Amino acid sequence: MLILGIESSCDETAASVVKDCIELKSSVIASQAMEHQKYGGVVPELASRRHCENILSVTQQALAKAEITVNDLDGIAVTYTPGLIGALLVGVNFAKGLAFAAGKPLIPVHHIAGHIAANYLAHPELKPPYLCLVVSGGHTMLTEVMTYTEFRILGTTRDDAAGECFDKCARVLGYPYPGGVQIDKAAQIGDARKYQLPRPRVAGSELDCSFSGLKTAVINMVHHAAQIGETIDAPSMAASLQKTVSQILTEKTELAAEKTGYEIIAMAGGVSANSGLRASMQEMCDRHGYQLYMPPLSLCGDNAAMIACQGSYHYLAGMTADESLNAYASGTAIGEMKEKF
Ligand code: KG4
Ligand code: ZN
Repeated sequence: MLILGIESSCDETAASVVKDCIELKSSVIASQAMEHQKYGGVVPELASRRHCENILSVTQQALAKAEITVNDLDGIAVTYTPGLIGALLVGVNFAKGLAFAAGKPLIPVHHIAGHIAANYLAHPELKPPYLCLVVSGGHTMLTEVMTYTEFRILGTTRDDAAGECFDKCARVLGYPYPGGVQIDKAAQIGDARKYQLPRPRVAGSELDCSFSGLKTAVINMVHHAAQIGETIDAPSMAASLQKTVSQILTEKTELAAEKTGYEIIAMAGGVSANSGLRASMQEMCDRHGYQLYMPPLSLCGDNAAMIACQGSYHYLAGMTADESLNAYASGTAIGEMKEKF
């Protein structure tokens, strides 16, 4: 079974071919990050235009590297939600055109389900059910992965995602976009004890979290220092922030594991590349004897291999779409289909 995956939800145009769900045949990514850097974040209109320019050649390269043609495919999987609407529409319409021209099934994939699936490519022994901490630029959630295509959200952020918090704090500290990886680098040389940051409390569900208060605290500390003519030690602030975010996410995961009884834990999404978070999750899992699965750094960020992998499981479950498939910026829970196909 050969599935082509297409991803264009943010600023990466990507295509990949995966065989029998987990065997990676090719993965091509055209990143626009450098272009958006001068604006301090992704410019949606620019992202859509670059996707339009890149998507054909990225797909051709993915097929060529896998040494196959469109005719050899069993299906075409595409990210249809969530993300920047103009960016998603490029991938969805390209996939629709290709699928119907070639007479192949079209498979809609939720981007977050794709992030989770990145683990199957790297760790074939990982099988549902298990607990997964999803941490990306737009999402932060603890989810129970019940089957390859069914998920139950146990807790989520009430406001900002962890990635958003890293990115906005990085910006105020003077680091370029995308800021998360800059915080990670700077944290290596900073002193995490130099600044005391608040640990936001969330009333209600103990598995929910909140990052906007933490983000505002960092921004206020930087502005206050500027007002009184002092300079913030940016690497130490980065180290304090990374430590605080890692502790919050690790403690929430520990609590979720305790409540649900899961001893298999995975991480997914761009922020799962964070070295501080990886170390604190590993320490917690070792302490309890839990098995921890993390995607390799190459599969943490946006890519199409994860979409092709998750698309393969959707295909096996009969979750395909027709030509009325639309893209949605938000509003679809992971594992749910926006439309009945
Ligand atoms: O999953 P992803 O590539 O895109 C979304 O689906 O949002 O995640 C992007 C996020 C950004 O906020 C980026 O700064 C963050 O992941 N990120 C990191 C690291 N690498 C990427 N955050 C902290 N440490 C990193 N090493
Ligand atoms: Zn993503």
